[in-house]
Amino acid sequence: MMRVLFLLALAVSLAVALTGDDEAKALPAGAGKELVVKICLDCHGTGHFRGQRLSSDDWSDKVYDMIDRGAKANDDEILVVVAYLAKNFGKDSKVLVNTAPLVELKSVLGFAVAECEAVLAYRKEHSAFQEWRDLLKVPGIDPTKVEAKKGMMAF
Ligand code: HEC
Repeated sequence: MMRVLFLLALAVSLAVALTGDDEAKALPAGAGKELVVKICLDCHGTGHFRGQRLSSDDWSDKVYDMIDRGAKANDDEILVVVAYLAKNFGKDSKVLVNTAPLVELKSVLGFAVAECEAVLAYRKEHSAFQEWRDLLKVPGIDPTKVEAKKGMMAF
């Protein structure tokens, strides 16, 4: 019995570690990504910040708020992290449709949860979307929403 429980616990912790890894991998590439992975994923996943679109000042406030909550970063690291967040999740940052998590598809592109899930499922089974029109092939997706938000998408 103990052995089964132990194996179960091991499987769960492996699954959690893998999810964290995948989330980290899915973050947009670029300067500062590694610091964000190191500093921002200790307490929660990327979903907490990927669904947001904030100005540089607001990201700065948010990061200092996280420092107050226990995030560990020095002043230089904070500048790099804020620059990364402002570049990738700034006011005009587009959504990388092939790697964005559900929360970002939902809050930035305005899809319903069921539509986001359909996009994720489609993404898993097919090759990468090349342009916004490819999203029209996703079963159950609202074409007017796709077209309305095409300017917010990047591939
Ligand atoms: C020491 C733990 C910890 C670390 C590290 C951490 N956070 Fe948080 N974060 C929290 C807690 C606690 C909350 C609020 C509770 C919740 O929503 O889970 C939160 C919530 C958030 C939110 C959503 C709430 C809001 O105010 O919008 C954002 C955005 C966020 N964190 C961004 C970040 C970023 C960016 C980093 C890296 C600089 C980071 N966090 C690192 C603990 C942490």
